[in-house]
Amino acid sequence: MASSSFLFINFFLSLIFLSTQTLSSHYTQLFYPGFNGSIDITLKESAEIEGNGVLRLTSRNYRNIIGQAFYSSPILFKNSSSDGDGRAFSFSTCFVFCIIPEYEGGHGFTFAIVPSKDLKGISQRFLGLFNESNFYGKFSNHIFAVEFDTIFDVGIKDIDNDHVGTDLNSLISNVSVHAAYFDELGKVHNLSLQSGKPIKVWIDYDSDEITLHVTISPFNSKPRKPILSYRVNLSSVFYEEMYIGFTASTGILSRSSHYILGWSFAINGEARDLDISSLPSPKKKKTGEKISLPVYVSITTASVFVISVFALGFYLLRRYKKSEEIEQWELQLGPHRYSYRELKKATRNFSEKELLGYGGSGKVYRGILPISKTQIAVKRICHDSKQGLREFMTEIATIGMLRHRNLVQLLGWCRRERDLLLVYEFMENGSLDNYLFDDPRTILNWEQRFKVIKGVASALLYLHEGYKQVVIHRDVKASNVLLDGELNGKLGDFGLAKVYEHGSAPDTTRVVGTLGYLAPELPRTGKSTTSSDVYAFGALMLEVACGRRPVEMKALPEEMTLVDWVWDKYREGQVLSVVDSKIQGVYDEVEVTMVLKLGVMCSNNEPEQRPSMRQVVRCLDGEIGVADEWKAPGGGSNGGAVGEFLGSFTSTSISGESSC
Ligand SMILES: *[C@@H]1O[C@H](CO)[C@@H](O)[C@H](O)[C@H]1NC(C)=O
Ligand SMILES: *[C@@H]1O[C@H](CO)[C@@H](O)[C@H](O)[C@H]1NC(C)=O
Ligand SMILES: *[C@@H]1O[C@H](CO)[C@@H](O)[C@H](O)[C@H]1NC(C)=O
Ligand SMILES: *[C@@H]1O[C@H](CO)[C@@H](O)[C@H](O)[C@H]1NC(C)=O
Ligand SMILES: *[C@@H]1O[C@H](CO)[C@@H](O)[C@H](O)[C@H]1NC(C)=O
Ligand SMILES: *[C@@H]1O[C@H](CO)[C@@H](O)[C@H](O)[C@H]1NC(C)=O
Repeated sequence: MASSSFLFINFFLSLIFLSTQTLSSHYTQLFYPGFNGSIDITLKESAEIEGNGVLRLTSRNYRNIIGQAFYSSPILFKNSSSDGDGRAFSFSTCFVFCIIPEYEGGHGFTFAIVPSKDLKGISQRFLGLFNESNFYGKFSNHIFAVEFDTIFDVGIKDIDNDHVGTDLNSLISNVSVHAAYFDELGKVHNLSLQSGKPIKVWIDYDSDEITLHVTISPFNSKPRKPILSYRVNLSSVFYEEMYIGFTASTGILSRSSHYILGWSFAINGEARDLDISSLPSPKKKKTGEKISLPVYVSITTASVFVISVFALGFYLLRRYKKSEEIEQWELQLGPHRYSYRELKKATRNFSEKELLGYGGSGKVYRGILPISKTQIAVKRICHDSKQGLREFMTEIATIGMLRHRNLVQLLGWCRRERDLLLVYEFMENGSLDNYLFDDPRTILNWEQRFKVIKGVASALLYLHEGYKQVVIHRDVKASNVLLDGELNGKLGDFGLAKVYEHGSAPDTTRVVGTLGYLAPELPRTGKSTTSSDVYAFGALMLEVACGRRPVEMKALPEEMTLVDWVWDKYREGQVLSVVDSKIQGVYDEVEVTMVLKLGVMCSNNEPEQRPSMRQVVRCLDGEIGVADEWKAPGGGSNGGAVGEFLGSFTSTSISGESSC
């Protein structure tokens, strides 16, 4: 490419700033066929001119950032000193942009005409242009922008996640259209803004006709018909002097690199044409990108959503920034944002026929993605509750980052007004409880059961120790263990999960969980710990071995609570009699005994007496043996009180029988 000649042209032409002093012919022109060596562009936040002359507003390597680039000097947009006529001048601009997304990408960028280069309190939620207090439309903003928006934010009345809109003093567009262009024959062709390919834009405002035209195309020649035309008198929006430029942002989950490859602008005239093929193009390698400014985290953003939820998100973000594992974290995170339409189609409009069951806080549907034909499970969280939104965000923020073969994978999410949808990998064999209780159609043999127990144990160990933070699941139970096609057990439903720093003390929260799996100290302390997860896992192990629920109201009084029943049978010397009769005595006695013993140990009333998940996993893997002597689960030999499971803490003084 003739880069030296373009540099030459650029160097001189970018400095051209013609200005004549008669009102009718006041004329201004800017021309940047690439930005190499441009000293008259003010770069803010993450914006940068790359070595090859591409103006990069944001980097897809970073979430929650904004980038702004303005022409350094103000531009005269009207002459109010003349006979009181505050009429804005006509203007025209042409630029070529390119958006390279990470995963689904976002949020988008704007071409903006603003009163100041120092916009205050800008939030990354608002395309790097508005702040919390002014995005909803204020006459005093004096902001005009054309947005190229790649996320579907119902809060600002977006039409989809690929649209062009005109914004007058507000991020709620006056008009917006799906990104598209007209060809010679007048046929419309859709465009994807974030295809990674250059797209050329023309924005023309005629002050006599008071019309604004926006035209976009992937080609050099300007389509005859604009994609968006809007009759508007911009005179009241503009001050005499305004700044022009570009703004962009990335979000917590959606990130893109927004590039401007070339730009021209003119007042009272037509902006110079740009040739796409002679403009610089963005670097391919993302590792080459650097960011010189700290990540911008707006606290005010949080207030729009539930503060606590976002606090978690920011907290995690901050943690990850501090730790130096950015690359790994980046690679690990990727919940994808699905379009509502896609999910609606996949689940046949959330048909009752596709209903798989009821999750912690909503219905779960089976779906088939329209294009890839991948089977998915979609959890639709009960809206209306702050709790629902909190759980929704927790799931995205927590399990979106976790990777373990025994954790149900979160594939993505979608939020549409009050509909909160989480998309998971589809687990062909449904939940474990269907195979254990109430005359299951399919019986799992011991080998399969043991595999499930080992799988869930290793997932819990990963949550407790294998990740940067301690993740407490808080709702380990058979119905939250799902089985894939090969009957591998995977732990799911992270709606109640909590995340702590390693070594820090968990804080007190509302007691959550499911009866029978709830550690007895929980109602007293209000603190979920790894040890309370271990308690629930103990109950799960016993269930899997015995084929019954931890608390069975219908059972004989002495059999009502599973752990006490197992303990009693052990003391009677016939522990194997508790094993699920449905497996018809076909099992490895050593394994079954170990599982029962571990189950009782984990179910100990005293958190200190319970093993850690690491010890449990090592036992299950045969690395260490379990002590010969069993310890009473606490609460006394005949104290099969359901009260313990309900959390009465009369049993804190354990009975003396530590072994038999
Ligand atoms: C950009 O300009 C610098 C000097 O200002 C020059 O060294 C470099 O080669 C130029 N890059 C391109 C791609 O033209
Ligand atoms: C603005 O209008 C006044 C009066 O018509 C004129 O004298 C002045 O030169 C104009 N200024 C510009 C920048 O066009
Ligand atoms: C646009 O508004 C300005 C200022 O209010 C006014 O002077 C001008 O005549 C208007 N333009 C048209 C075409 O109505
Ligand atoms: C939002 O922007 C407006 C206009 O720039 C400014 O006056 C206001 O102080 C900003 N608000 C916050 C909270 O930063
Ligand atoms: C366009 O947006 C501005 C600013 O929000 C608002 O004042 C105006 O009423 C809108 N006009 C139309 C036609 O929607
Ligand atoms: C273009 O996109 C719009 C909005 O998504 C859609 O309704 C329309 O069918 C698409 N047109 C073509 C030709 O794909």
